[in-house]
Amino acid sequence: MAVTQKERIFTGDPDGVDPDKVPKKVLKSGAKLPCIGMGTFGSDRFSAESVAEAVKGAIAVGYRHIDCASVYGNEANIGAVLRGVRGKGLKREELWITSKLWNDKHGEKDVIPSCEQSLKDLQLDYLDLYLIHWPFPNFHAKGVDVTSRDPDAKSYIHENYMKTWRQLEKLVEMSLVKHIGTSNMTIPKLKLLLRDAEIKPVCNELELHPHFQQPEFFKFLLDNDIIPIGFSPIGSPLRPERDRSDGDTIDIEDPVIVKIARRLNVHPAVVCVKWAIQRGQVPIPFSVNRNEYLANLRSAVSTPITQEEMKEIAGIDKNCRLIKGQVFLWKLNQSWEDLWDPNGEITPP
Ligand SMILES: NC(=O)c1ccc[n+]([C@@H]2O[C@H](COP(=O)([O-])OP(=O)(O)OC[C@H]3O[C@@H](n4cnc5c(N)ncnc54)[C@H](OP(=O)(O)O)[C@@H]3O)[C@@H](O)[C@H]2O)c1
Repeated sequence: MAVTQKERIFTGDPDGVDPDKVPKKVLKSGAKLPCIGMGTFGSDRFSAESVAEAVKGAIAVGYRHIDCASVYGNEANIGAVLRGVRGKGLKREELWITSKLWNDKHGEKDVIPSCEQSLKDLQLDYLDLYLIHWPFPNFHAKGVDVTSRDPDAKSYIHENYMKTWRQLEKLVEMSLVKHIGTSNMTIPKLKLLLRDAEIKPVCNELELHPHFQQPEFFKFLLDNDIIPIGFSPIGSPLRPERDRSDGDTIDIEDPVIVKIARRLNVHPAVVCVKWAIQRGQVPIPFSVNRNEYLANLRSAVSTPITQEEMKEIAGIDKNCRLIKGQVFLWKLNQSWEDLWDPNGEITPP
């Protein structure tokens, strides 16, 4: 039976946001990336079912960009949701779906099957974006503590990364993936990739929130036509214990963020998301609560924060990285900073 316009999702949801009104980034390919996406990492706190239910709700209120990853362990649940909404008339090309290659699948023979598994789980013929989740092939079991190390862990080896990247390029040639990109990279690593890639990365996913603005990296990405997708845009207030350290600061308690939130009569989290969109990155906030993910989406279409407020937020950067990645370290007694090439050069093995 044909689906009528009235039966299409969101037209019936008076609270939702019209997806056509959500600003988009236009890529060289002509594809359009919605300026906000829905995160799907349940931080060990939410079941795959509840994250998928949130994705269903998010699509119903107008989200069209969903940030997935095989390691989040919920792609099959999200796939059932995607099939459901498409059955109700949502066209595949109206959605932007990202997935990511996990660290134990960097081997040349593993990349294509891993992407095919994500496609199968998500019930899709192609992905809009496929990322290498981390530039290290180091495996760690789910939920391990930050002191855990993979005995076979390696430093960044560009030659090996390029072998993995070539497989991503093949995925594009096979039409299984429209665009490819990176995540948790640094400027020196990306410079090498830009030098050697046949198909350049179009997006880089990185931690970005008011207390961790990465201004130099952010500019590098824009200068190189790479769209910054900002993860943990609210400062991941409920992240797992293993990702917490003494000295971490809390964005949503910052007096500047709280002041702007009071003026706008919104939660401080919404100010973080709004700032991110206005600055030019693509935030991918996570929530399973409808009022929260709806408020985050609305921030993309509501009256902008003033230029004065944008300047005030630029002034509260604390260079406070929250997702430090300790489990990817390859030697004992190393500092997590080594993962992030603090001297502007790739940290030697
Ligand atoms: N590429 C990578 O390596 C990488 C790393 C980390 C994350 N990510 C992606 O980025 C996404 C988001 O990051 P994240 O989950 O770490 O952190 P986040 O989005 O900064 O924070 C999520 C938390 O903020 C709260 N929240 C969200 N919207 C809110 C609102 N409007 N009002 C009040 N509270 C709100 C939620 O609380 P409640 O739970 O109480 O609702 C949720 O626990 C992930 O889901 C994942 O898709 C990628």
